[in-house]
Amino acid sequence: MRKKIVAGNWKMNTLPAEGVELAKGVVAGRGEVCSCVNFIVCPPFTHLSEVAAALKGSDIELGAQNCAAEAKGAYTGEVAASMIAALGCKYVILGHSERRQYYGETSETLNKKMAQAYENSLTPIYCVGENLAEREAEKHFDVVKAQIEEVVYNLTAEQFKNLVIAYEPVWAIGTGKTATADQAQEIHAYIRKVLAAKFGAAAEECPILYGGSCKPSNAAEIFAKQDVDGGLIGGAALKAEDFLAIGKGFAK
Ligand code: 13P
Repeated sequence: MRKKIVAGNWKMNTLPAEGVELAKGVVAGRGEVCSCVNFIVCPPFTHLSEVAAALKGSDIELGAQNCAAEAKGAYTGEVAASMIAALGCKYVILGHSERRQYYGETSETLNKKMAQAYENSLTPIYCVGENLAEREAEKHFDVVKAQIEEVVYNLTAEQFKNLVIAYEPVWAIGTGKTATADQAQEIHAYIRKVLAAKFGAAAEECPILYGGSCKPSNAAEIFAKQDVDGGLIGGAALKAEDFLAIGKGFAK
């Protein structure tokens, strides 16, 4: 049985005090959702520590939204994987389309970031997904395949056991336009096939999350699909009630 995961990517939102309130709200309402759902929140670096304190005693886990490609040293403005691990993070989002698009993250950089994550016992949530032009040109399968082959294929079998994939079509992020449940299933199944080509049966255990305008009203239908193991949530993760309601979308 694969893990069911609902992860909140807060992006560059909330001030520290607001983040703590949000985390407390998630903790307070968590009991209403099946304990079979694993909740993860990924606040900005600046409030990881305070949010970690707010989550204490709950089963809600903490993740960061990025980490540096290097271990430490003269890299002004960067945050090392060891630093976020020391603050209590168990996960790190890597390769988000916003980072690929606005900060020029390439597979080369991402390979280094993945290595840093594993060296510090963090589980990467590795994001893949095509943009609108690529979807319209029916290149989405090739795009995600390359994003997986260039990075995930470099992992050892042992590392692969600690990996979460998030499929996030760029055209669905923050646009209010979601992939249909069938579109999500089609590409999630394909991603699993690409993973299986390298890692065999272990691909069956890898959680693959859907991200892109996921909200309480559409989560259940998308999560009901066989190869969709949860969601990576942006906007709707900024309201404790909505974030938790998405977790209620698991009927299986
Ligand atoms: P939205 O849920 O706001 O579309 O964002 C999705 C996302 O990018 C999560 O990483």
